[in-house]
Amino acid sequence: MQKLFQIQHAKLENMTTFEDILSAPSVFENRNVLSPHFVPKELPFRDNEIKRVMVAVAPALAGERPRNLFIYGKTGTGKTCTVRRVMKEFEEQKTSAQNVYINCRMYNSRYRVVQRIAKQFIPELDKSGFGLSHFYEKLIEYIKTGEQRRLLIIMDEVDMVKDLDELIYTITRMNDELDVGSISIIGITNRLNFKDVLDPRSKSSLCETEMVFTPYTPTQLRAILEQRGKEGFKEGAVHESAVNLAAAIAAQETGDARYALKLLLKAGEFADERKISMVTDKEVEEARRNVDIDLATETIATLPAHQQLVLLSVCSLSLKGASYAKLGNSDAERNLMSGEVYEEYSKMCRKYKKPKRSARWYREYLNDLEMLGLITTIESGRGMRGHTRLIKPGYDAEQMRKIIMEQSFAKDVQFASPKQSTLSLDGEEGQ
Ligand SMILES: Nc1ncnc2c1ncn2[C@@H]1O[C@H](COP(=O)(O)OP(=O)(O)O)[C@@H](O)[C@H]1O
Ligand SMILES: [Mg+2]
Repeated sequence: MQKLFQIQHAKLENMTTFEDILSAPSVFENRNVLSPHFVPKELPFRDNEIKRVMVAVAPALAGERPRNLFIYGKTGTGKTCTVRRVMKEFEEQKTSAQNVYINCRMYNSRYRVVQRIAKQFIPELDKSGFGLSHFYEKLIEYIKTGEQRRLLIIMDEVDMVKDLDELIYTITRMNDELDVGSISIIGITNRLNFKDVLDPRSKSSLCETEMVFTPYTPTQLRAILEQRGKEGFKEGAVHESAVNLAAAIAAQETGDARYALKLLLKAGEFADERKISMVTDKEVEEARRNVDIDLATETIATLPAHQQLVLLSVCSLSLKGASYAKLGNSDAERNLMSGEVYEEYSKMCRKYKKPKRSARWYREYLNDLEMLGLITTIESGRGMRGHTRLIKPGYDAEQMRKIIMEQSFAKDVQFASPKQSTLSLDGEEGQ
């Protein structure tokens, strides 16, 4: 959002009418095609995966219970768009089978997921204040009274559900209780070894069928970019070598198509900003420098306040370390110790007037942040004050810090407290 504003701002000098603004030259034909939410009609290199998901869900269309399906693979390997593509066709079959797509980043607990499912199928539950058991009973009733109702629950980023074992147990129990109809799960995760943290019972239930999505090769990424680029950009607006470069960069990272598309989109935005009519390597290079932090921005902005405070603590300690380094302190680039970060977090809580959470919660927050790639942690070897977790920021600390400082809780303090300078004694220098 901020970026968009800047771009528009940059061009403002010579714009006086809406017409000027809307007709400003652009390399884009349809920017939307390059957005991460766009589901393309064709998904090259995923024919097999599409087929396998179709085979997995097909029983629902024939009045049988599909086995649960667990899909994993690295970010940007097309899991979400493959499943969404199949579900679109599934819906067009118009049978008594129904599905709901849930992004567990938003619905991240058993209660919230079950509530979301219930509300989707039973509109009168769309008021707040019902308990889990109420939703449970209503759902059972709903499935039973239909004609062979087969519900398919797609839980994307399923690893974000805090009490997933309980959720799977609840859904399994629901199935056991049903003599007509059924409820099945498609769980999707970017974490390759996620199923190993589930308890054995939920693991065998969720992973009745499994599928892995492998990273795209450079050639495949190039083809995907070409296909999207053709629709998204004006003819001749992207140099071939720019596409190749974007594909090569993304392949080097992890074979992530989302990253590749983002590079191209950003490169196009740079070209527009500078009023250049063709995207070249130069813009892709520049985009690369910006995309990393951009991806992090989205993630950070959607984090709950306490995770942001923990991340802020990691960033400011690490920045302090960097300034010691300049003074010739060789110990400065070291990893942060879990304990000192917790101390810093406690100070931050005081500063931003948030009730401090216990160390147990704090460890959970570290797990969340690590899962999102915002920090990296390693266990210290024995001998170093027993076992402790050593922590480093996953992206540039200064940039992450800036993003967090733009969040509402931080701003509230900035505006509400004129005595900012006394507060900043406890760690954070000068905002
Ligand atoms: N085979 C493909 N063809 C075209 N676009 C793809 C393909 N695979 C992924 N994409 C695009 O890449 C981005 C990331 O895909 P997504 O399904 O969200 O990945 P995942 O869920 O595995 O992280 C999306 O914008 C998607 O449209
Ligand atoms: Mg996904």
